[in-house]
Amino acid sequence: MSPTRIIQLQANGVDCAAEVETRTTLADFLRRQCGLTGTHLGCEHGVCGTCTLLVDGAAVRSCLMLAVQADGSEVTTIEGLVDTTDPGNPVLGPVQQAFADAMSFQCGFCTPGILMSTTAWLAQRPANAAEPTDKEIREFLAGTLCRCTGYTSIVEGVRLAAQRTASGGP
Ligand code: FES
Ligand code: FES
Repeated sequence: MSPTRIIQLQANGVDCAAEVETRTTLADFLRRQCGLTGTHLGCEHGVCGTCTLLVDGAAVRSCLMLAVQADGSEVTTIEGLVDTTDPGNPVLGPVQQAFADAMSFQCGFCTPGILMSTTAWLAQRPANAAEPTDKEIREFLAGTLCRCTGYTSIVEGVRLAAQRTASGGP
């Protein structure tokens, strides 16, 4: 048995605390101890971007971060993008809705990571930034791998999300 530590973090605004082996990744902690299985694991060594989520607002590959490193942090996963103001009527977040409208997925396995990467990317763009070009979007997407698509629909989803973010739309 590896050494253990009790950690506590906020996952999508909810406390999650547990004793974990110090070698446990953040991805495994969230999936096993917090019940947040929306974060997917692909390569498990930092290449594919599928496990991307936000730690204190920054995009992180959660297969490379240890859970103990996130102790005390605020974590946002794909589940946290949904607006649950009315628990009986959850509403997709704006980036999720843009991807749905642009059909930016096939099997959907990579989608949580790409949505979280897109959320972080849009958040760091200046409010008055011009609409991103295809080149900019494709460069940003280079950090995430999709085994299904030709990426064209994903580029469209990111562009739609950027347009709606700029206009304050849905
Ligand atoms: S599963 Fe983390 S980068 Fe691939
Ligand atoms: S939609 Fe299937 S891996 Fe990306």
